[in-house]
Amino acid sequence: MKVFVSRTLPGDTIDALRSAPDLDVDVWENITPPPRDEVLRRVAGCDGLLSMLTERVDDAVFDAAPDLRVVSNMAVGVDNVDVAAATRRGIPVGHTPGILTDATADIAFALILASRRRLVEGVDLVRAGGWVPWYPEFMVSQPVAGQTLGLIGYGRIAQAVARRARGFDMEVLVHTRTPPEDPDVTAVSLDELLERADIVSLHCPLTSETRHLIDADALASMKPTATLVNTARGAVVDESALVTALRQGTIAGAGLDVTEIEPLPADSPLPSLPNCVVIPHLGSATIPTRTLMAERAVQNLLAGLAGRPLPHTVNPGVVSAP
Ligand code: DGY
Repeated sequence: MKVFVSRTLPGDTIDALRSAPDLDVDVWENITPPPRDEVLRRVAGCDGLLSMLTERVDDAVFDAAPDLRVVSNMAVGVDNVDVAAATRRGIPVGHTPGILTDATADIAFALILASRRRLVEGVDLVRAGGWVPWYPEFMVSQPVAGQTLGLIGYGRIAQAVARRARGFDMEVLVHTRTPPEDPDVTAVSLDELLERADIVSLHCPLTSETRHLIDADALASMKPTATLVNTARGAVVDESALVTALRQGTIAGAGLDVTEIEPLPADSPLPSLPNCVVIPHLGSATIPTRTLMAERAVQNLLAGLAGRPLPHTVNPGVVSAP
């Protein structure tokens, strides 16, 4: 059997894969993603694909790889995979939930602190030699402790953010499809959350329903002192509406780990806005987390190749023939 792995993997996971009997492992040995035509060429004749969130896995890929038995995406999010098309073709799709929860919640909280307390502006100012003697209004900012945190989506990562918020004496509002039975949070409508929260943190998957959920109207209903934090997917936010809102002071600031186009295009105004902190999709980027993600992706891939149910799949019930 043959598999295509669209990037080198951390730790010794590739060696583990290579040691599987009768498996021809083709790895894209580059830190930049394989171009689309290269993906289509390399999946031809493959039984398995281990993809990253940077590869679009859709009908064109499935047409190019008619023998494909499994797609294993090394991410919890699968918005890069056409899951409906995979399901129609009987191809199980694996992902890596549960193991990046704390790493991503840490980054969400880091962005809350950095954007509310102007950390990056402060660092830039010191580096530029602009540190002036203390005065009462020097670099004053929005508080974090005791504030109201609004979580959109309440999966594992949002719950881990809520746990961190407790240590900061925050009131936690939640907007999610199924209201949680969690006495420590209050389920509210999206409108109420946007109106009441000091910090709005996004934790929903990117779907056709959540694309541009945070648009100009949503931003206008937030408080002028509020901060938007996004560690989910960039396209949940209408980025041009966000730029306008940050420039006009509709909201106070934003902390973004994800953007509509990644890497952020060089001409994007976002990084130069003083009230916006942008980091390059670091949510899961700890050494242990990325290693576990790779291991889990390999487990899903091998299960699919063997015709076993994937340990972690987004289309349960779809099992490739043994
Ligand atoms: C995921 O797994 O979906 C994350 O975005 C990767 O960092």
